[in-house]
Amino acid sequence: MGRKRASITQLGVQNDEPSAEERNIIEILNIKERPDLIAQVAQWIHQEWGHFRDRSLQDIVRAIENGCVAEYPFTLVAIMGAEPVGTASLKIHDMDLLQDFTPWLAGVYVPTIHRGKNIASLLVSEVEERARRLGFAQIYLYTSTGAKLYEKLGWNSIQELEYDGIHVVVMDKMLKP
Ligand SMILES: CC(C)(COP(=O)(O)OP(=O)(O)OC[C@H]1O[C@@H](n2cnc3c(N)ncnc32)[C@H](O)[C@@H]1OP(=O)(O)O)[C@@H](O)C(=O)NCCC(=O)NCCS
Repeated sequence: MGRKRASITQLGVQNDEPSAEERNIIEILNIKERPDLIAQVAQWIHQEWGHFRDRSLQDIVRAIENGCVAEYPFTLVAIMGAEPVGTASLKIHDMDLLQDFTPWLAGVYVPTIHRGKNIASLLVSEVEERARRLGFAQIYLYTSTGAKLYEKLGWNSIQELEYDGIHVVVMDKMLKP
């Protein structure tokens, strides 16, 4: 319970080496099951978005740790073999604006060398599924660059606005009961 495994072959990447089975499995788990990976995930987030809204590495570590306390908010990590290969979170709020909207998909990140293997798609659908199981009927996100990816995953654009000087699209998705 609480873990999801998917074969990368199922996800569309060919691999003819059965002996590398462990490397073909993507496991998605709550980072509270692997606190040793918090530093790595925080570093990804800081590298990608730390400049935006001035978040220090320590702020990000603290936010991830706060997400380890209860069922929600949470951070997921994708692992392939022994290697962490992506992350995504469910947050209560992710914008100072739009405080009435909750919860938010946030921090979807896959390291460059692992992109294009459907890992982000898998992480997003796992966050959606866990949000649905928590009883949420609708989920939100904002993005400046990823709207096309999320459209492919069934998300709808609901607003466009300037946020801290950046043009962002706010999107939502209804979660099936
Ligand atoms: C965006 C990101 C998470 C995608 O990760 P990924 O594991 O490579 O994504 P997937 O393999 O699941 O891609 C799913 C689909 O979205 C497409 N896609 C991925 N990133 C995209 C982007 N920025 N713009 C448009 N399409 C994109 C892929 O081509 C793929 O489409 P396909 O199935 O038709 O080929 C990754 O590039 C990343 O971490 N970028 C930096 C952080 C970021 O931008 N996060 C998300 C925006 S908030």
